[in-house]
Amino acid sequence: MSGLNPGYRRHLSVAAARHCCDSDCGPGVRPAAQMWTLRRKRRMVWRNQHETRMSAHKIIIDTDPGQDDAVAILFALACPEALEVLALTCVAGNVQLEMTTRNARRICELAGRCDLPVHAGCDRPIGRDLVTAEQVHGRSGLDGPDLPEPLMPVQRVHAVDLIIDTLHRQPSGSVTLVAIGPLTNIATAFEAAPDIIERVHEIVLMGGAYAAHGNVTPVAEFNIHVDPQAADIVVHSGVPLVMLPLDVTHKVLVTRARNAAFRALGTPVGRAVADLTGFFGRYNAERHGADAAPLHDPCTIGWLLRPDLFSARRVNVAIETQSELTMGMTVVDWWGVSGHAANATFVHDVDADGFFAFLTDRLARL
Ligand code: BDR
Ligand code: CA
Repeated sequence: MSGLNPGYRRHLSVAAARHCCDSDCGPGVRPAAQMWTLRRKRRMVWRNQHETRMSAHKIIIDTDPGQDDAVAILFALACPEALEVLALTCVAGNVQLEMTTRNARRICELAGRCDLPVHAGCDRPIGRDLVTAEQVHGRSGLDGPDLPEPLMPVQRVHAVDLIIDTLHRQPSGSVTLVAIGPLTNIATAFEAAPDIIERVHEIVLMGGAYAAHGNVTPVAEFNIHVDPQAADIVVHSGVPLVMLPLDVTHKVLVTRARNAAFRALGTPVGRAVADLTGFFGRYNAERHGADAAPLHDPCTIGWLLRPDLFSARRVNVAIETQSELTMGMTVVDWWGVSGHAANATFVHDVDADGFFAFLTDRLARL
């Protein structure tokens, strides 16, 4: 336990002192009428989706929203017949934890899902200072659309505890962790409760790079670079792992035509997704002179729903955690020369037209 993320360790001692047991109350006091509306909405959504959820695949989305995280969350929520989103667990990454938790709730409310539990997790990486990406995502992390302040609560249960409790409670092998931010929450949960590792169905993560090189240093991708120690714990955990690195996400480009197709849905969600991806696109245009930006995180949901659209290869992946020069590099044994057993399914290619047609079609449901 002494190696645990310091933020989570502090949370453990505070929680022990408080004897907190309420899992469903947010910060601040809400007017009774507002709480009643939230509860009623929650019951209605649950009733509508209960039938379809019976055979859906259970997932927890661990996230640091982020425009592309937002689209990934909407994508998953648009497919309740296939994916049952149990919770959103937030982590510091693109912006500080307080903002990622706020953004996750703004997205839930946009999707009409005030019932979905949103949990705040680790506010800093394991053993390193937090590096954020406001230059890419804007000051809020979700610049672009004009989304209101969220009304729904943040759950009192820490995201790490939620991951641990869920994996203990649900049948072993039934829950997939979809990781679209730094891996701090998941690695911290594995360190705190190693018995959950064998209960995870698999981890599907956006992160890493091989032939595509890095997007935050010459060799490192952002999610892995922010918390390389966490990534190292995860890749060595033995959990079945699917990685969607920059090699594939840089082929999933939001061109003008694809952005226009989101807007043409004519719904609040379609307009918001067009504004979100438009904002992301502006950064790419200014920084790289590119006329289309990669839509990283939704690739994880695309893989879960339509693996036929992707190509992948079983490889061994190791994480650089020592050298400051190459910190967070994913060292991919493409040709099997290391003698180390494969520990990841590394997704490297995609039918991008098929992906966008499917994504746009599903977003039309919200
Ligand atoms: C990843 O970093 C973040 O900025 C995005 O949300 C995505 O998860 C891409 O490198
Ligand atoms: Ca992200």
